[in-house]
Amino acid sequence: MDIIILENSDQVAAQGAAKLQKLLLDKPAAVLGLATGGTPIALYRHLVVEHQNGKLSFRDASSFNLDEYIGVRPTDPQSYRSYMQRHLFEQIDIDVANTFLPECAADENPLEVGPKYEQLIAARGGIDLQVLGIGQNGHIGFNEPSSSLRSRTRIKTLTRETIADNRQYFDATEVQPQLAITMGIATIMEAREVVLLATGSSKAAAIRQSIEGPVSAMWPASILQMHERVTVLLDSDAAAELANRDYYDWVQEQKRLLLHEIEGA
Ligand code: GLP
Repeated sequence: MDIIILENSDQVAAQGAAKLQKLLLDKPAAVLGLATGGTPIALYRHLVVEHQNGKLSFRDASSFNLDEYIGVRPTDPQSYRSYMQRHLFEQIDIDVANTFLPECAADENPLEVGPKYEQLIAARGGIDLQVLGIGQNGHIGFNEPSSSLRSRTRIKTLTRETIADNRQYFDATEVQPQLAITMGIATIMEAREVVLLATGSSKAAAIRQSIEGPVSAMWPASILQMHERVTVLLDSDAAAELANRDYYDWVQEQKRLLLHEIEGA
C-alpha cells in the first residue's frame, strides 16, 4: 500500500485527480471506476478545471460507478446518477452513453442488475482505476461490515450507522433510501489500480482499522491490503490514529529521493 499523508483535503483531491489525469493521458479510452459521497466532490472539481483548461479529455473514456440507491429514480436529485451528472459528467466531454451505474429501472428485477453490471464491466475490459471513499464503519461502495470479501455486485441493506452518516445529504422532507445496489468487494478488487481517499477526523478510526488492522469482513476496506496496487490519500485528520505514520512519511521521502536520483542520472 502506498500511504500518502497530505496536509489538507484539497491536496488529497488534487493528487487523486492527478492520478486519473495521468491515466487518461496514457490511455484515453480508460475505464474509470467512480465514487460518490462528499469526499470525491473536490476531486471532480479539479478534473473539471483541467478539462476546461484544455488539459484533459474524457471523449474516449467510460466509467462505472460503485453504487446506486434502489427506489430512487435516476432523475431524482438524490440519485447517484444525478450526483455524477451534476459534479462531473455535465461539465466534461464524456459520452453519457459510456457512463454506467448499477441502476435498477422501474420495470427491472433488482436481483438481475448485479450480474448484468458485472458483464458490462467485463465487456469493457475491466476497470483501470477505481476511486474509493470510505465509510466511518469501513465500508467501500455500500459493502457494509460483514459483507463477503468475495462478493459481487448485488443488493445491500444499509446499516443504521450509514443511514445516519448520510442523513446530512438529505432534506428533512426527503425519504432516505435503505437499500442500494453496490459493486461487490471482489468486483472492486479486480480493478487494476485503486485510489482510496479519506479526509477528516470522522474517518480516522476506519483508516486505522483498514490499514493497520487485520483483514476482516467487519472492516471491508481492510481487504485492500490484499490488492497489488493501492494508493491511500489521507489528510492529517484522517491519518491521526495511524500508529506507523512516521514510517509512511519516511517511505514517501525515500521515494522522492530515489526518483530524484533516477531522473537526475
Ligand atoms: C457513501 C458511499 C461510499 C462513500 C462513503 C463515504 O455512503 N456509498 O462510496 O465512500 O459513503 O462518504 P463521504 O465521502 O460522504 O464521507
